Amino acid sequence: MIRTTTARFGRLPHSVLSQARPACLDSLRQRSDSSKSAAFQARCLSSSPFYPHYRAASPNTSYLSATHTLPPADLSVETQKLLALGEEYLLGVYARPDIVLSHGKGSWVWDLEGRKYLDFCAGIAVNALGHGDEGMAEVLKTQAAKLIHSSNVYHNAWSPRLASLLVSLTRKEGGLGFAPGTTSSTPGAKVFFANSGTEANEGALKIARRLARARTDDSTSKTFFVCFENAFHGRTMGALSVTPNSKYQAPFRPLVGDVRVGKVNELDGLNELIDENTCGVIVEPIQGEGGVNVVEMGWLSAVRKRCDEVKATLIFDEVQCGLYRTGRLWAHSRLPVDCHPDIVTMAKPLAGGYPIGAVMVRDEVAKPMGPGAHGTTFGGSPLACALGHYVLSRVSDPAFVAYIDDISSYLETRLHCLPGWFPKTIQPEIRGRGLMRGLGFWNNGKVMKDRVAPGKVMELARERGLLVLTAGSDAVRLVPSLNVGRAEVDFAVDVLESCLSVAENGSKE
Ligand SMILES: Cc1ncc(COP(=O)(O)O)c(C=O)c1O
Repeated sequence: MIRTTTARFGRLPHSVLSQARPACLDSLRQRSDSSKSAAFQARCLSSSPFYPHYRAASPNTSYLSATHTLPPADLSVETQKLLALGEEYLLGVYARPDIVLSHGKGSWVWDLEGRKYLDFCAGIAVNALGHGDEGMAEVLKTQAAKLIHSSNVYHNAWSPRLASLLVSLTRKEGGLGFAPGTTSSTPGAKVFFANSGTEANEGALKIARRLARARTDDSTSKTFFVCFENAFHGRTMGALSVTPNSKYQAPFRPLVGDVRVGKVNELDGLNELIDENTCGVIVEPIQGEGGVNVVEMGWLSAVRKRCDEVKATLIFDEVQCGLYRTGRLWAHSRLPVDCHPDIVTMAKPLAGGYPIGAVMVRDEVAKPMGPGAHGTTFGGSPLACALGHYVLSRVSDPAFVAYIDDISSYLETRLHCLPGWFPKTIQPEIRGRGLMRGLGFWNNGKVMKDRVAPGKVMELARERGLLVLTAGSDAVRLVPSLNVGRAEVDFAVDVLESCLSVAENGSKE
């Protein structure tokens, strides 16, 4: 049940929504200790320039009691049977709660017990249009009846259309070295379709190696990849090798060799990190799994400059932060072109939940990738690309983009109250951009272990009908569908506020 919203809203003009962050929100970031919480509270009472009618005197306490818990023995026979089947026959690589999802609509999902959840995970930043979208269902039905798969032995009607849409939107909105509004069609860009984020990154790494060989007459010394702490690029061997997290890597060593690891936003030592032997540098402009960390523009520009000096290929992994999650086509669309990459990888929301991944490269990077250099059986299927074309056409509509800005600002306005109300638990800065948000916790599993942990709040939220994710060791991550509604944002933040109160003070049940 959605509680009555705490405020009344009027839709604001886009020019208001797109203005720079108000100074009062910036000043909130500076504070961290509890002695300053009164000041935070006062600010949440004052009107936000984005949402002048939003007022909140104190955190919501409507959801102190759990509503979605059931002892295992009380689960339906069907749920119990399915859980037992999974336990017996599925590879046990996922730790998940006893919830079997059956269907969804918009931002909501239901389990087999009839419990309704607000989905602020969106399949880990995938379901751009939410669940049960009728337009997507129609495209699926029509294209499935025509041609589902044909392999890449022949052309199909949808992969060139989707590739062309991606490149033309990139020219229009900026990215991959194109300034926003680029009209000339030369130089251009090329797209390779895969099936997932990790495969898109494998493709990008291969292209970087291939290009280095082409540039050095097949000399084999320019083979090193550079990646960064807290990055996540996927689970296949190449992508895993540039995901420097021992939790993921240690059991599978030896990995692909020739990888160096740096720290994002650290300028010192960049010249030694990225040297003449570097063929590719891979970075997420906003780290997702690693904790929702925004990478600084000045650092990206220094990395770009160094890549140019040593002729290394710069790869941006926008699998999680790309495709309008931040309110722009790419997280780097708004950055000056001297920060842009040579290659951008994407996946998650491109076909709204149907598996797809893609690598987009500038023309000069594409040159050495001739017939046979790379390939896939399933990638670029007519069904995946028809859906991708449909989803991308919908979310790139200017009215939709304006809506993402609007709803993101509202989510941000609400989240900005939390550090002030819960200073012992939540760090002052709300992380991320747009609809990719992180609440940083003081407890990162190593320090301040006595404080509330992000995993605890995720669990309490689920017990109250809200699905959120954690990120890294110290964050709760919110990545709802791009068409999430304001009442849903209210429900999500109200539940989080109640959960933070429960976690800090204990349940009042
Ligand atoms: C930034 C980033 N890159 C790559 C991947 C891997 O994508 P996939 O799980 O589709 O292979 C992920 C998945 O979370 C991701 O967030």
